[in-house]
Amino acid sequence: MAIILGLESSCDETAAAIVRSDRTILSHALAGQEDHHRAFGGVVPEIAARAHAELMTPLVETALADAGMTLHDVDAIAATAGPGLIGGVMVGLVTAKALAMASGKPLIAVNHLEGHALSPRLVDADLSFPYLLLLVSGGHCQLLRVNGVGDYNRLATTIDDAVGEAFDKTAKILGLGFPGGPAVERAAALGNAKNVPLPRPLKGADEPHFSFAGLKSAVLRAHETGQYKVEDIAASFQQAVIDCLYDRIRYTLDRIDAPAALVVAGGVAANVPIRNMLEGLAASRGMRFVAPPLWLCTDNGVMIAWAGAERFAMGLTDGLDFVARPRWPLDPNAAPARGAGVKA
Ligand code: KG4
Ligand code: ZN
Repeated sequence: MAIILGLESSCDETAAAIVRSDRTILSHALAGQEDHHRAFGGVVPEIAARAHAELMTPLVETALADAGMTLHDVDAIAATAGPGLIGGVMVGLVTAKALAMASGKPLIAVNHLEGHALSPRLVDADLSFPYLLLLVSGGHCQLLRVNGVGDYNRLATTIDDAVGEAFDKTAKILGLGFPGGPAVERAAALGNAKNVPLPRPLKGADEPHFSFAGLKSAVLRAHETGQYKVEDIAASFQQAVIDCLYDRIRYTLDRIDAPAALVVAGGVAANVPIRNMLEGLAASRGMRFVAPPLWLCTDNGVMIAWAGAERFAMGLTDGLDFVARPRWPLDPNAAPARGAGVKA
């Protein structure tokens, strides 16, 4: 059985965790940086990188102490090597390289998106390849066929904003604070989703992709009229997102040989109404629905350690010369979607 230390620092969570290949989480240390960024209404890359540099070593020490281990008990050191804010990614990757060099243990460079993509397999031992994955985070909205470790087919992606981005911008427009996703979900629970007419971008379109930029602009216009309660706008926005996701996934499901399971991962997977919609959609298609527990959806070290364990089991380790990658698509062969030049 392998024991993997995993480091995460690609956005605004600094985290270190130790996971065993039998799916036991031995420790899990995480420090959010919300307080550092709140005054700016979003993540400031330079501030994030400095905070990662301060927090990473103490968190690694905490993760080792909580597991009752030293570096010698670990079989490999995994770290997010991209995609993400490059300053932060480099902090985690350089720390992992130093630990690997000092201990003589192998380095595993993990794609952050693969961390999200494989995390459902940590909590569900029966989830085998292939599965259909909706990956929804602050930077991505993709539908992927997960064939195996390191083997993905991107079936659809956003042509403009990511879903998490739309939640964050909506929160900012409505003055709900930062981080935006959970704030919008809380406000939405108090509002009426039928009260504000908002568009469903690309609903019914004869292509598989997603779009959220128009929805965000419509939220801004609705708010500026001064006619609607913030809670009603939040609820109507969240319902529009749900309707779009449902319609777009259904489009793809109608055209593929669907795998046995529909899986959701990434920060937006923590949204309970979105999870409920996906569960219903999966059931209507005779598919199993798998979602990580809420705490495992947003960025953390456990998913990086687990992706490291999956790669280690296949003999996939990396050289200390591995270069951090700010962009790193899971399916490098995917045809570019129209408009999607800047998003992986
Ligand atoms: O995966 P993640 O933690 O970081 C990235 O890799 O991007 O995702 C963060 C995103 C943010 O946009 C955040 O607002 C969104 O996930 N998010 C949510 C919820 N919790 C986090 N969006 C909707 N509802 C939530 N409960
Ligand atoms: Zn993430």
